[in-house]
Amino acid sequence: MPNPTVAQDLENIYSAVSGREWPKKSTVVITGCGGFLGYYLTQFLVRYAQQLGILKVIGLDTFLLGQPQWLKLLVDEFPAILDLRQFDVSRDDIAAITGADRANLIIHAASIASPTFYRQYPVETIDANIWGLRRLLDFYRRTGELKGMLFFSSSEIYGDPQSQFIPTDEEYRGNVSCHGPRACYDEAKRFGETLCWVYSQQFGMPITVARPFNNYGPGMRIGDRRLPADFAKAVIEGRDITILSDGTPTRTFCYVSDAITGYLLCLVHGQYDYFNIGIEKPEIKVRDLAGIYQEAGREIFGYTGKVLFKESEDPQYLTDNPNRRCPVIAKARKKLGYDPKVSVEEGVRRYLRFLKSEGVS
Ligand SMILES: NC(=O)c1ccc[n+]([C@@H]2O[C@H](COP(=O)([O-])OP(=O)(O)OC[C@H]3O[C@@H](n4cnc5c(N)ncnc54)[C@H](O)[C@@H]3O)[C@@H](O)[C@H]2O)c1
Repeated sequence: MPNPTVAQDLENIYSAVSGREWPKKSTVVITGCGGFLGYYLTQFLVRYAQQLGILKVIGLDTFLLGQPQWLKLLVDEFPAILDLRQFDVSRDDIAAITGADRANLIIHAASIASPTFYRQYPVETIDANIWGLRRLLDFYRRTGELKGMLFFSSSEIYGDPQSQFIPTDEEYRGNVSCHGPRACYDEAKRFGETLCWVYSQQFGMPITVARPFNNYGPGMRIGDRRLPADFAKAVIEGRDITILSDGTPTRTFCYVSDAITGYLLCLVHGQYDYFNIGIEKPEIKVRDLAGIYQEAGREIFGYTGKVLFKESEDPQYLTDNPNRRCPVIAKARKKLGYDPKVSVEEGVRRYLRFLKSEGVS
């Protein structure tokens, strides 16, 4: 049984996507099924398989950081639906997986997303987004079964936009460095998008590209080193929240259930297109997010910590870090009917409540 917060989120996601046309008797392949977004995507597809006409979900992941316990439990609960494999999408042969050739929905989410970790694994990050994607595209262009394919790009393809391009819509071409600590991620996502464009044009593949903007919530490991996870970790451990900048960079933070709804709407869109998936408002300073964690932490954990500002010991920590990140999501609203609703205060409370009820320490 899922955690109560997650169960309610999955139900909300289902009400938002169930009216769409899902292919009948489908097989879904999801790469990166063990990650943060995989936590919701995999659970949703498996738990709602019957309602969505899904016969099989093939979950692939290297499990570089170990196979998560929730996935083991999900296989035990749904052995006939979930086929879980340790699989490196950059190297392993998808043709060797029984039933993968019948898949008609593909989600390519495999790629480390946390800057701390993709900087430790830059080559692997490039490989997952380029060679991994290319291998999937080459395989699925020949099967003739494809009804929808979702590639997880990133808002990082915009780099650090000049002020007149904020809020940022999909037609902004970016201000990105091809060198430096973030290039392995940003440029791999950019070239991944080019591959999607080329294969959709050359082979008529129904590929939809999603550009996530700062998601957070249950499923994000507290050791992930992304900001929402770092703040949650400090609250849980009863430590002060430390911000490794002056706290003025701004972001909009999109709660995971809203974002997942957007990704699923992209998946069943069934034609080439690209969408910002995030939330437009409020664009808040990182220090304000820390304040929201303090407040929610007080309510849920009796937290009394302060917010401190410190310089990172890593001199490259802030190199090419965007100062402002804020999406325009009018295109996804119009074409997909995407409509994110969860406020950042509510989302942070849901994340902390989830961590408390899971006994994360
Ligand atoms: N979460 C966000 O806010 C966000 C923002 C921008 C982009 N994205 C993109 O969305 C996707 C999912 O993000 P996430 O937050 O779940 O990331 P995550 O780092 O939590 O999970 C990624 C998963 O992919 C797996 N993986 C990595 N390389 C692999 C490979 N070669 N073969 C198979 N599995 C591999 C990892 O083991 C991990 O389980 C990624 O492509 C990421 O770049 C996410």
